[in-house]
Amino acid sequence: MKKNITTADGKLGILIPGLGAVATTMIAGVIAVNKELSKPIGALTQMGNIRLGKRTENRYPLIKDFVPLAGLNDIVFGGWDIYTDNVFEAAMNSKVLEPVLLHALKPELELIKPMKAVFDESYIKNITGTNIKNAASKMELAKELMMDMELFQKNNGCSRLVIIWCGSTEKYIEVSEVHETIEAFEEGLRQDDPAIAPSMIYAYAAVKMGIPFANGAPNLSIDIPALESLAKITATPIAGKDFKTGQTLMKTILAPGLHARALGVRGWFSTNILGNRDGLVLDDPENFKTKEVSKLSVLDDIFQPELNPDLYGDIYHKVRINYYPPHGDNKESWDNIDIFGWLGYGMQIKINFLCRDSILAAPIVLDLALFMDLAKRAGMSGIQEWLSFYFKSPQTAPELRPEHDIFKQLIKLQNTLRHMMGEDLITHLGLDYYEHEAQTL
Ligand SMILES: NC(=O)c1ccc[n+]([C@@H]2O[C@H](COP(=O)([O-])OP(=O)(O)OC[C@H]3O[C@@H](n4cnc5c(N)ncnc54)[C@H](O)[C@@H]3O)[C@@H](O)[C@H]2O)c1
Repeated sequence: MKKNITTADGKLGILIPGLGAVATTMIAGVIAVNKELSKPIGALTQMGNIRLGKRTENRYPLIKDFVPLAGLNDIVFGGWDIYTDNVFEAAMNSKVLEPVLLHALKPELELIKPMKAVFDESYIKNITGTNIKNAASKMELAKELMMDMELFQKNNGCSRLVIIWCGSTEKYIEVSEVHETIEAFEEGLRQDDPAIAPSMIYAYAAVKMGIPFANGAPNLSIDIPALESLAKITATPIAGKDFKTGQTLMKTILAPGLHARALGVRGWFSTNILGNRDGLVLDDPENFKTKEVSKLSVLDDIFQPELNPDLYGDIYHKVRINYYPPHGDNKESWDNIDIFGWLGYGMQIKINFLCRDSILAAPIVLDLALFMDLAKRAGMSGIQEWLSFYFKSPQTAPELRPEHDIFKQLIKLQNTLRHMMGEDLITHLGLDYYEHEAQTL
């Protein structure tokens, strides 16, 4: 049965903590698309099709024509950053998009100015800024953020908001007592508990207001029991964490293939060089640790070594990120994969991906914003596991193992859309195509 989904009337405000390389590439991209200067390549919501019904029915609409998403012309952008640069300046500094393109968008981009950020240098050491809020406690900071959200919505005439964290990666912390319940968390906000990271303050403010919140970085942020239960209370969709781009995207494309053919893996060595501000932040070991944990989890969950010890029981998996300024946002990654086949004979695969980090991440931010808004209008709340497709460390219910296989993630996403719209789910069984033949023989 079709879900009751309210229409996408009016403007959708996309608010972003962290107006750096990824965020500005996404914003400039959407404006360029609206001006018909370019195409939204890589955004499933805009370019992807979905099969409906049987293969014989030949129904493959575009996703944006199938589900009621906000139109790109109905989006208003805003955000927070520790720097005062407007989005035009920040995009120029990020050096991802060509200056010629950015100059063509300058009037729109320079209007988007960052609001004052909630920042704590103990969570990110390698950058400092001046555009930072000052308040008596973390609770007061959260209240200021809620006021920012309310004012933004009012001043821009938005009917709805979504928030996508595109801020720098915070230092590694684990879930502790203050993150367990909403009562402990709110008391922690009042008492300035050092275990509450800035990204959690944004997440709390959003969820408290019922605004969908997705986290593109590997830090915990919304991925704590306290905020998960608040999201259920306020009927807010949440999702995370860490956009799946570059090397991990390749890993979750290739590893399911090796696993599918029962090929063994002895080792997977992954190294990266990148020179953008993200690389600078990750140059600090405490921040790198957050990214490392996120990147390492992928293979274990795809190969499940405990189920297949002969094939995957002894994998040596290493991930390195090196800050190398001359490459800027053009991240280069190398993977050496030692695999083995029939009777244990060894083989090697080498991947050298010369990617553009923010070019891969920007469409993810857009898709997440549009799908999170859809989820909210469809009355879905709490963890949106069907959006795992976009994340390196998909957030799931505590008792569930995350699904990392990108193909299963896509099937889950598409079936969720079919389910929302009252279409038959597709199992790929396909026996019914042959049943008629058998009966007539
Ligand atoms: N580019 C990718 O492919 C990719 C993939 C996965 C995850 N990510 C994550 O996305 C995030 C953004 O990446 P990027 O390349 O745009 O980095 P960036 O350094 O260009 O931008 C991050 C911005 O966040 C701002 N910031 C930091 N703390 C803040 C706070 N508390 N409040 C508001 N603003 C804050 C910084 O000043 C900076 O402008 C990073 O955490 C990165 O790890 C990126």
